[in-house]
Amino acid sequence: SCRAVIFDLDGVLTDTAIYHFYAWKALADELGINFTEHDNEQLKGVDRLGSLRWILQKGGLTLSEAEEARLMQQKNAHYLELIDHITPDNLYPGVTALFTQLKRHGIKIGLASASKNAAFVVERLGIAAQFDYIADANQVLNSKPDPEVFLLAAKGLAVAPQYCIGVEDALAGIEAINRAGMKAIGIGDAKVLSGAIRVYPAVKAITLEELLSV
Ligand code: G6P
Ligand code: MG
Repeated sequence: SCRAVIFDLDGVLTDTAIYHFYAWKALADELGINFTEHDNEQLKGVDRLGSLRWILQKGGLTLSEAEEARLMQQKNAHYLELIDHITPDNLYPGVTALFTQLKRHGIKIGLASASKNAAFVVERLGIAAQFDYIADANQVLNSKPDPEVFLLAAKGLAVAPQYCIGVEDALAGIEAINRAGMKAIGIGDAKVLSGAIRVYPAVKAITLEELLSV
């Protein structure tokens, strides 16, 4: 049975995944590295340093920590510019309705995000108060696919992992959920998100009945 649903943020609850991609792509272009949308599937859910290092490796570049720090700062500044306009309108359709249903059934709502900007984003989306617990990249050492952020969320919710469902748009995230001993629901393409029990095109396709039957 399901006692908690733990959501990823970027690409699940809101459209920010595309802005992470744009900002990484701009940086890669500047470095002369070819970075495609296909490559980006590997980076969804991966933290900032891990993402940068993946791109640098693709370009055969090894940089000093100081240079890495500068590039991460540059990417983040660009990303923050791209999301500067976000409001509750950027919440994906169906999120509020699903949250309402979960609450009505006493199912807890958690967040497990690899982003250090997660608190800012949920605040701007107007949903910060809806979460029973928020776990993000500022509190963990190991990025998805490591299960740490999902396990922290479950602990914060006081629900054992086997009673949690995780919802993710990233391959790394689905792996993290499975390694946490939770049930994984994918948002996106079933061919990409192998490892998920079920895959829906968007959050609005998830019904409470489906969650309870997982
Ligand atoms: C999420 C996104 C990634 C992003 C990562 C770090 O997991 O899916 O695309 O790189 O968070 O985000 P941050 O906001 O900390 O740079
Ligand atoms: Mg995501």
